[in-house]
Amino acid sequence: TTTPRKTVKDYIRTIADFPKEGILFRDVTTLFADAKGFRMAIDEMVQPWAGEPIDKVIGLEARGFILGGAIAHQLSKGFVPIRKKGKLPGATISQSYKLEYGEAIMEIHDDAIRPGERVLIVDDLLATGGTCQAGAQLVRRLGGEIVGCSFVVDLPELGGRTLLETQGLDVNVLCAFDGE
Ligand code: PRP
Ligand code: MG
Repeated sequence: TTTPRKTVKDYIRTIADFPKEGILFRDVTTLFADAKGFRMAIDEMVQPWAGEPIDKVIGLEARGFILGGAIAHQLSKGFVPIRKKGKLPGATISQSYKLEYGEAIMEIHDDAIRPGERVLIVDDLLATGGTCQAGAQLVRRLGGEIVGCSFVVDLPELGGRTLLETQGLDVNVLCAFDGE
């Protein structure tokens, strides 16, 4: 008999009733904190795009920065943050997106992507897809071409993957949670 190899999903902790009752929060801090787990996640997020020309890696605030920074380093590419409104110091363009209650706004520096540049968008988790959709809209408004979107976790019940694919985006996820 052999011990089954630990997968990325095994490093993710689930916390019940956070941020409010009835929600199962998928906590990637336990994945990030583990040397083997973190390296496995970065390697698996990079792998599907091997051989594709990529100019920049985009991270979505906040947990997308941790993954995106490591992925950009591994690919020897530049990193570009997409941030919540009011955080970036230079000239920006903005995009609003829907949250469970109300709206939020994401921003990118207007000179961070040049027309025709090929980018990979990175975040920790795909739920409704609203956050990544807003990020993709920002990239496209600057003339960037999106090679793909990479996530550690998908919550398929929330339909984010379908939403993004409908917009012609190539989506890769390392694991999914179906309310288990
Ligand atoms: C979470 C998660 C994704 C987003 C996914 O971020 O990190 O970015 O929600 O949800 P969606 O697919 O429905 O848009 P959150 O907005 O909690 O902010 P944070 O990453 O800054 O903590
Ligand atoms: Mg986030």
